Amino acid sequence: MSAQVSVTTAAIDRYAVFGNPVAHSRSPAIHAQFAAQTGQRLMYEKLLAPLHGFDAALQAFIAAGGRGANVTVPFKLDAHAAATSLTARAAAAGAVNTLSFDGNQIIGDNTDGVGLVTDLLQNAGMVIAGKKVLLLGAGGAAQGVILPLLQAHPAQVVIANRTPDKAAAIAARFHATGSGVAAGILSACALDALDAPFDIVINATAASLTDAVPVVSPAIFGRHTLAYDMMYASAPTAFMRLAAVHGAAIRDGLGMLVEQAAEAFFVWRGVRPQTADVLAQMRATLA
Ligand code: ATR
Repeated sequence: MSAQVSVTTAAIDRYAVFGNPVAHSRSPAIHAQFAAQTGQRLMYEKLLAPLHGFDAALQAFIAAGGRGANVTVPFKLDAHAAATSLTARAAAAGAVNTLSFDGNQIIGDNTDGVGLVTDLLQNAGMVIAGKKVLLLGAGGAAQGVILPLLQAHPAQVVIANRTPDKAAAIAARFHATGSGVAAGILSACALDALDAPFDIVINATAASLTDAVPVVSPAIFGRHTLAYDMMYASAPTAFMRLAAVHGAAIRDGLGMLVEQAAEAFFVWRGVRPQTADVLAQMRATLA
């Protein structure tokens, strides 16, 4: 009797991160570890899209059999526009960092906010429920995390921005849509109006890109404050250094990066990877 050898010829599932620049992206390394750990067969690559050519690059990837994509700077708004449908958290964020392709459908999601909340709750051991949260900044990074933060049941979320009108506009939009906002929880103000401590202070401004710090009163940092910078680097950011001087505990955004990737992996594959070892390894490669 002759043995029959079954050979699987199915194409490997393809995923990618689109950005410009994208060479620095750690997402392929993170997803490769998730895939190995969960036994999922997939490949994940970096794709540099032209600054004005996101749509064409995305369509080419879909035509080539891509199953899903992450989207980073500067294409999160392009991805939002390209999506044929949006999850509630992507609609609230006004931006998309995770795309899934299903026939002619392009589903836009946003896992950044869940990444932040999961890092705070699971990795930093913080409690958000009942706490006072300050969100510094009113750009895309800030807007992307508000709904998941609100869904963690804080007592208060204050959005403070150098240009206060932008913070007020975001708060007004959340109030208008009623996106999980219990009356009075979400408010907005100017940076210079802050004069009391918060339990969690999140820097979602772009200041850390230039090693600058938003000009804020040190009174926002109390003895029980966690100061969280969405940015990460091999050394603490200027914001983290300032917060530490004023007695706050500090944390950077590397855990958020790993957790937003884990949530995207779950969206695509239906399997939730473990993140602790991946985060530790990412930390080691930063040093
Ligand atoms: P992103 O998508 O990264 O959020 P963005 O939409 O350009 O980028 O928003 C940048 C945010 O960082 C804004 O809230 C900006 O404040 P303004 O709205 O007043 O411009 C904030 N920001 C950038 N540099 C800052 C600085 N040095 N101090 C305080 N806020 C700063």
